[in-house]
Amino acid sequence: MVRGRFITFEGIDGAGKSSHIEPLAAWLRERGHKVLVTREPGGTPLAEALRELVLHRPMDALTESLLVFAARRDHLTVAIQPALAEGTTVLCDRFTDATFAYQGGGRGFDLHTLSQLEAMVHVGLQPDLTLWFDLPAALAAQRRAAARAADRFEAESLAFFECVQAGYAARATAQPSRFRRIDASPSQAQVWLQVVNAVQALVP
Ligand code: TYD
Repeated sequence: MVRGRFITFEGIDGAGKSSHIEPLAAWLRERGHKVLVTREPGGTPLAEALRELVLHRPMDALTESLLVFAARRDHLTVAIQPALAEGTTVLCDRFTDATFAYQGGGRGFDLHTLSQLEAMVHVGLQPDLTLWFDLPAALAAQRRAAARAADRFEAESLAFFECVQAGYAARATAQPSRFRRIDASPSQAQVWLQVVNAVQALVP
């Protein structure tokens, strides 16, 4: 059995990544792939319960980091790894790059500690492809203003999101082989073409 592909979607809140996940799942299924669509924090009952805490309860950056990695551990062992092992393509709305961007970049939490947690929780697994929806923080803020009620992260300042953005850029520079930068500023149709282009190279 060929191992499935693991594709993650990243970007600051308001960059528009989530609107492309279900269309990509449909696109892949039309081509005969079995697909699991999931998200972080979340994706299992335990991880979804942790998501509620992370998104809505005040806590310090270490607690936040431990909770997102605890959720990720459960998600990986219960959902992602079994799916990949049976040949399913996994589309995940955010993964560990979000921790480096939000807890590392945004909150300023120690990157070395995050790397240690990453090594402990991932046990060698990295996404095959990470689509990074890149949009200037000021533009993303305008898009968010038109959306629903903000959670603890979405309510953060422009300066916070500029740091998150820098966190993503640093990860993309450090691991260029799996990152594909998607210019998220044009129309949804133009962004979609970039998404298909990037995925076609991996999943013909
Ligand atoms: P998001 O994925 O944007 O979901 P929705 O579209 O429902 O708002 O929300 C998840 C939030 O969690 C997002 O603001 C980023 C944050 N987050 C972290 O801070 N660290 C992480 O490791 C992950 C996975 C998410």
